[in-house]
Amino acid sequence: MNKVTVKDIEVKGKRVLVRVDFNVPLDEKTGDIADDNRIRAALPTIKYLKDHGAKVILMSHLGRPKGKVVKNLRLNAIAERLSQVLRQPVAMAPDCVGAGVERMVAAMKAGDVLMLENLRFHKEEEAGDLPFAQALARLGEVFVNDAFGAAHRAHASVSVIAGFLPAAAGFLMEKEVANLGKIMENPVRPFAALLGGAKISDKVSMLENIMDKVDYVMVGGGMAATFLKAESYEVGQSLVETDMLDTASRLIELARKKKVNLMLPMDFVVADEVNSGARTENVPTAEIPGEKRIVDIGPQTIDAFSLELRKCKTIFWNGPMGIFEIPEFAGGTKELAKLLAGLEAMTVIGGGSTAEAVGEMGLADKMTFVSTGGGASLEFLSGDELPGVAALPDKE
Ligand code: 3PG
Ligand code: MG
Repeated sequence: MNKVTVKDIEVKGKRVLVRVDFNVPLDEKTGDIADDNRIRAALPTIKYLKDHGAKVILMSHLGRPKGKVVKNLRLNAIAERLSQVLRQPVAMAPDCVGAGVERMVAAMKAGDVLMLENLRFHKEEEAGDLPFAQALARLGEVFVNDAFGAAHRAHASVSVIAGFLPAAAGFLMEKEVANLGKIMENPVRPFAALLGGAKISDKVSMLENIMDKVDYVMVGGGMAATFLKAESYEVGQSLVETDMLDTASRLIELARKKKVNLMLPMDFVVADEVNSGARTENVPTAEIPGEKRIVDIGPQTIDAFSLELRKCKTIFWNGPMGIFEIPEFAGGTKELAKLLAGLEAMTVIGGGSTAEAVGEMGLADKMTFVSTGGGASLEFLSGDELPGVAALPDKE
């Protein structure tokens, strides 16, 4: 990565404002942090700054409160968890801008860590508002962006603020860009993209861009239904993105032209309800019953994907193969996660639910790289420079 990083700048005694992505998944019932990987992933940058005598001011969003204060989306619990993993107190600010926060910042000593309140409690954050970015910038003397997961958003704290302070990339940002850059620039072939999740719509530009680089595109998850419908299969009650049918056909045609082996599932697990305990059956793709829904890929598909994945030297995986949250529908995702964990290939996991699945299975260490960016990793693979990266200065 040809960007200025924290190592290139003087931080001693300075107020360093760090954008992190602590938008962690929360347990639906309890509201507790369900996965703290994004917090742990920012530790190298936070520790480095602390150890080099900086005053560390952290800012993040959580969820989508849309410009209002939402109690459940306060960052207190996150500051607390950070304090545990960092083994030092982390002060919590009542807001992210304003006189009160400025006073807290002014009282900081070298090595102190302060967490600002959820940026998205202000609608100006997502609007990329200049005065708001300036108000944030006033808190620091240097800006460090370590929020790869949010780098695809042109928000005030992500890209706009870099116009007001000397800026640098944090270690996580650097690592993400290096790893994802590697699979885009010179992947060792054969190269497979294993894709799942609900929707095609958020993967179209990525698919178009990688068709020149990959040997395989393997499609599972809910998005397979749209591809199959475009190929005139009946998919029962499965969700189909009807406005994406032409796009799906075009992608199938593009793969044919580029000689990419686009593999769709040949069988599925289907169920009449999306519930634990629902009755399931395995059916071939041509025989999906009208009243049932696709909930996972089937055993033949797992075998077919596995056979080809074993030949690959580079694999990018984004999106579960089925409704992973429900144990009965997690088989395809689990089998392929186990397979990837055992391969001698460069295995890169896109963030979001795929990273969670791999983490829950205890396989994260067995992958070459697990990205903390869901949407961001997809946009990175679309080939466009992310706003949060573009805003950082290049190395001299
Ligand atoms: C993410 O989790 O995708 C990032 O934190 C960005 O959040 P957003 O999708 O709500 O912008
Ligand atoms: Mg997102």
